[in-house]
Amino acid sequence: MPDFSPNMNRRHFVKRSALATGGLMAASLPLAGAYAGGHDTIRLALIGCGGRGTKAAVQAMATGRDVQLVAMADAYRDRLDESYRNLLLQEDTKDQIAVLEDHKFVGFDAYRDAIALADVVILATPPGFRPLHLEAAVAAGKHVFMEKPVAVDPVGIRRVLAAIRAARAKELSIVVGLQRRYSVMYAQETLPRIREGIIGDIVAAYAYWNIGFIRPPERKPGQSEMDYQMRAWYQFPWLSGDHIEDTHIHNLDIVNWVLDAYPAKARGMGGRSAPYEGHYGLLYDHHFVEYEYPNGVLLSSQCRQTNGCWFRLGESFVGTKGRLNVDLKRLMVTDHQGNKLAGYRDREDRDPQQLEHDILFDAIRKGQPNNAAEFGAYSTLTAIMGRMASYSGQEITWDQALNSDLDLSPTRYAWDADPPVLPGPDGRYPLPIPGMG
Ligand SMILES: NC(=O)c1ccc[n+]([C@@H]2O[C@H](COP(=O)([O-])OP(=O)(O)OC[C@H]3O[C@@H](n4cnc5c(N)ncnc54)[C@H](O)[C@@H]3O)[C@@H](O)[C@H]2O)c1
Repeated sequence: MPDFSPNMNRRHFVKRSALATGGLMAASLPLAGAYAGGHDTIRLALIGCGGRGTKAAVQAMATGRDVQLVAMADAYRDRLDESYRNLLLQEDTKDQIAVLEDHKFVGFDAYRDAIALADVVILATPPGFRPLHLEAAVAAGKHVFMEKPVAVDPVGIRRVLAAIRAARAKELSIVVGLQRRYSVMYAQETLPRIREGIIGDIVAAYAYWNIGFIRPPERKPGQSEMDYQMRAWYQFPWLSGDHIEDTHIHNLDIVNWVLDAYPAKARGMGGRSAPYEGHYGLLYDHHFVEYEYPNGVLLSSQCRQTNGCWFRLGESFVGTKGRLNVDLKRLMVTDHQGNKLAGYRDREDRDPQQLEHDILFDAIRKGQPNNAAEFGAYSTLTAIMGRMASYSGQEITWDQALNSDLDLSPTRYAWDADPPVLPGPDGRYPLPIPGMG
């Protein structure tokens, strides 16, 4: 088992507390004089200029006036332009945008040019590209903020783990976008209470990401299959990893963190059951996976993206003395008779996605590398393992998942290349059928 998070998290917790006043404080820290590129500004590149990447760039710049956005890269020019326009609307950070026209890069290879210009890169494309982009950033000696998930298959996970190790050897910082670990609700309320024994020994855990259908973009007349799948990336596991990865990873990561372990086995089921009005993708719309941890604790994990069904987004832990439920912004701890032992409501806590950047840029300014990113790879693998179990109908062990040769990537990334999975004549994609090998 890898070097896991509790120590890392205690370190982060201390740092996080020290940063409680946020970006302004970070900005006032003594500067190291020159950053990795020999500049007094921290040059930032954004790779993947969608909703999350754009917000992450603002959060990176909000950590201090010394951060300048110097390059942007996206598969599509329209996405890059939209992001650039939105960035210029942010009053507090707009004067930190210094992206020359010829530093806006487009296409599958755009990441290379953007990385070359930066000290720090934000990796916020669909996760299918994360291993490739992380490897390139680390090889070029750049610090990284990378969004979760960090890969979509075990081959990608191993590439990411190797890149994290290489980054450590180069004293580079990497922060992963699993922001719940930085939130007051989880880092200061949930984890410490559980460690203090408020619910006793944990005997079972439950995780939920049950929400509605996420509508993909419409297919345009004449659009190539590669273009369609890139635009509708969430629908295709070679790009998104399926929603058990792309969203449910948040819950799985919290359970791994609290249990201080990774699951030894996963078995489960899933499928695609709702009518989708011609929106045929390759995702299951529901997964139910039972994870077994090395100490025998079982996690019941369910995620669904179907309209009109029961909603819950959170985790529950059942212990010998009581139960702890976290639901979005609310924590409740009760004994087994239902008496309240503790509670917390996140009303105006600092945004944990801002805290991630505060921590990363604080490390860079101080020249004290922060790289505990393995947990992001292993929590991604937890989700992949669950997906392998529900797609196949088989029990999957941790070692099988970690060592699997499963590689979902296409033979090449190009607009005239075929994506790894093509639709049939009826427009439907071949969904995995459990039990069929
Ligand atoms: N931590 C969180 O809470 C959180 C929230 C939302 C999204 N995310 C993650 O952020 C990532 C992006 O999600 P999003 O919601 O911003 O999606 P998005 O579709 O809005 O943005 C993705 C962008 O990446 C671009 N892109 C795709 N392939 C590329 C490539 N090879 N090179 C360069 N650009 C490429 C797309 O054109 C698009 O502009 C995903 O991994 C997602 O899971 C995390």
